[in-house]
Amino acid sequence: MTIRTQVAIVGAGPAGLLLGQLLHLRGIDSVIVENRSREYVIERVRAGVLEHGTVELMHEAGVGARLDREGLPHRGVYLAFDGQRRRIDFEELTGRHVTVYGQNEVVRDLIEARSASGRPLYFEATDVRVLGFNTGRPTVEFRHHDATNEIACDFIAGCDGFRGVSRQSLPAAAWRAYEREYPLAWLGILAHAAPSSEELVYSLSERGFALFSMRSPRVTRLYLQCAPDEPMDAWPDERIWNELDSRLATDDGWKPNRGEIFQKGITGMRSFVAEPMRHGRLFLAGDAAHIVPPTGAKGLNLAAADVRTLAGAFCAWYLDGCARLLEAYSATCLRRVWRAQRFSFWMTSMLHRSPSDTDFDYRRQVAELDYLTHSRAAMTSMAENYTGLPFEGLNA
Ligand code: FAD
Ligand code: DHB
Repeated sequence: MTIRTQVAIVGAGPAGLLLGQLLHLRGIDSVIVENRSREYVIERVRAGVLEHGTVELMHEAGVGARLDREGLPHRGVYLAFDGQRRRIDFEELTGRHVTVYGQNEVVRDLIEARSASGRPLYFEATDVRVLGFNTGRPTVEFRHHDATNEIACDFIAGCDGFRGVSRQSLPAAAWRAYEREYPLAWLGILAHAAPSSEELVYSLSERGFALFSMRSPRVTRLYLQCAPDEPMDAWPDERIWNELDSRLATDDGWKPNRGEIFQKGITGMRSFVAEPMRHGRLFLAGDAAHIVPPTGAKGLNLAAADVRTLAGAFCAWYLDGCARLLEAYSATCLRRVWRAQRFSFWMTSMLHRSPSDTDFDYRRQVAELDYLTHSRAAMTSMAENYTGLPFEGLNA
């Protein structure tokens, strides 16, 4: 079967779904092709912190109602080190806050909106191929329920994540990767436990990094630094709780509440940027083009920022016949991407202990946190990056 559309979107993660919805609201047609099942995509547990601008974009996309009801506004964050817990007050420093709302809830809301729009979204597509993007006739081929399909389109949006097919379809000479791997991973859990702090706690300890976060008034989300090759069965629940206590507990007696652990996973860490983000009629967005280590909570927010730019560029093209924003897409996104890379790298190196680190490095990290939490200038810099750099500032 041949399907004709304006924009073929590969991947139904936050980037692909949000793009489809923003285009739909402007009357631009799209077809989304996803290789996993609907249940898998909705249940995949990942990020949780939405920048101010991402929340605004969800509203612009008409999917902000449940986010408003159930999202948890966070006006600040704690940094814990050397037995102390020191607060950075985002609202006071920048007038902005972030919102804690699980990525899987974002995806659930966007899939519902897609179904309501009546526009096609194919789950469990196999053999997805991205073709002809350097010609005037781009196509996406895929198999679905034993039938071979071809989408004939004007543009392809590669929103298929780090391991997707879009970036892998580029000729080697057409792009360049900038990359850094870390000898670190995060073990993340969800537990049925009431959060013992109203705000997140990022902690540096001699035993490594730990992070206290949450999903709801009854669910705590926690992470601890581990080695990338560590098997999950090396971490029985009791060991996870003991390790979290010893890394997170502060001298004022604060520590996380315990409860039944109902989800566990280990995620490796890398920094990665593919340049450029446009190849003829193929546009990469989100994790397909870049990965950040999770410490700055930027991955999902960067994906949303790319899609905001891409939707604006497609609208200018289809509604006003203007190609300027499409031409500027890669450079516009990369400027924000590199700032987020810088911030995520800085947060990661300030808060983790690498195998090659010495006692000197630990004391230097403590001094950095001490400085950060006592200097209004340093706190403001952290707060403006964490809550999200303004779009207009980046274009100036
Ligand atoms: P994705 O969410 O990866 O979506 C891409 C979609 O494309 C997926 O649904 C995938 O199934 C689909 N796809 C892949 N290949 C194909 C194909 N060939 N054909 C069709 N579809 C395809 N960020 C944070 O800020 N904090 C965190 O704690 C955090 N934890 C993470 C944990 C994990 C395990 C991972 C992988 C990422 C994590 N991130 C985190 C990063 C954040 O989740 C991503 O930045 C975000 O998901 C990016 O959205 P995306 O839509 O670009 O990509
Ligand atoms: C969460 C994830 C992050 O990467 C982060 O920096 C803060 C919070 C979370 O999943 O809640």
